[in-house]
Amino acid sequence: MLPTIAREDDTVVMIDQRKLPAQEVYVRCKTAAEVARAIKTMVIRGAPAIGVAAAMGIALGMRKSKATGTTKFAAEFQTICDLMAGTRPTAVNLFWAIDRMKRTFAAAAQAGESVDQIKDRLDRESQLIHDEDVASCRAMGAFGADVVPADAKILTHCNAGALATAGYGTALGVIRGAVEQGKTVAVFADETRPFLQGARLTAWELVKDGIDTTVITDNMAGAMMRLGNVDLVVVGADRIAANGDVANKIGTYSVAVLAKEHGIPFYVAAPISTVDLNTPDGGGIPIEERNDREVTHVGPSRLTPEGARIRNPAFDVTPSKYVTAIITERGIARAPYEESLAKLVG
Ligand code: MRU
Repeated sequence: MLPTIAREDDTVVMIDQRKLPAQEVYVRCKTAAEVARAIKTMVIRGAPAIGVAAAMGIALGMRKSKATGTTKFAAEFQTICDLMAGTRPTAVNLFWAIDRMKRTFAAAAQAGESVDQIKDRLDRESQLIHDEDVASCRAMGAFGADVVPADAKILTHCNAGALATAGYGTALGVIRGAVEQGKTVAVFADETRPFLQGARLTAWELVKDGIDTTVITDNMAGAMMRLGNVDLVVVGADRIAANGDVANKIGTYSVAVLAKEHGIPFYVAAPISTVDLNTPDGGGIPIEERNDREVTHVGPSRLTPEGARIRNPAFDVTPSKYVTAIITERGIARAPYEESLAKLVG
């Protein structure tokens, strides 16, 4: 399986997703601030993966703390949690992971543990968050594989693969699950402007796995559907509101509307940690606006004239009426989502 992120003694190591597929190089973060920077600058990206990175970054930062008393240690912990929380606003997995680390800290402090014992607890919790994510992806893959027909032509958007998680993937986990069930699949990977997660990352993962892969530019998806080349769509999610509205990579909404028009099922695969029951609907999901340069340039080359205004929302919201089902590690939720999601979250 692809090594997305790992803790190695006094570093958090991650494959540099900005450089793929041209170079397979690793970034070694030695401090919590370096991990936060890696999340912000997309060395690591994808909702579950940034949750894992934040947890590992917090554990690393606290491991390096020189504080001897719990008061100073607790203040440092809060600063590092705030640093992680300020990296990217949309993926709720980030805040879910930070909350889990906070609960772990609180339980250890309440039990009267020493600074060294709390450090050990935080290390263990971050590793658990990592390992549980891989297990959820596998369970999601097994549930999701059942909705994939034999000889399926599947369209996906962005990268919801091993690189976007601790391993195996959510949407790509469903595809991998179908392959493991012996089904033949052919995948269309939307290029995914402007950061090209589909062209660079999804295609890289699928080709490595020997899965039939065709990259298309985002504006080709409708034509492919009209030609009968797509049997189903499966994508990941950054945050799912209580009513089933889904925030995911910009362009997902267009794909969902096209799928509905063509009578093609549109599935969302995401772990329970992506479901945010505190946000009633998609209107309450914060949408990250990223740097203009991602739109104005491809690599060093400028595409747009100076003076043109730029918009770069990194995510959009797909209303739940376009979502055929939400595949999680605890089972598949269907409309009405208020009930089905609340039941799965428990
Ligand atoms: O900006 P990114 O690359 O972090 O956005 C990633 C996506 O939108 C993914 O589809 C989503 O996080 C699900 S990953 C399993």
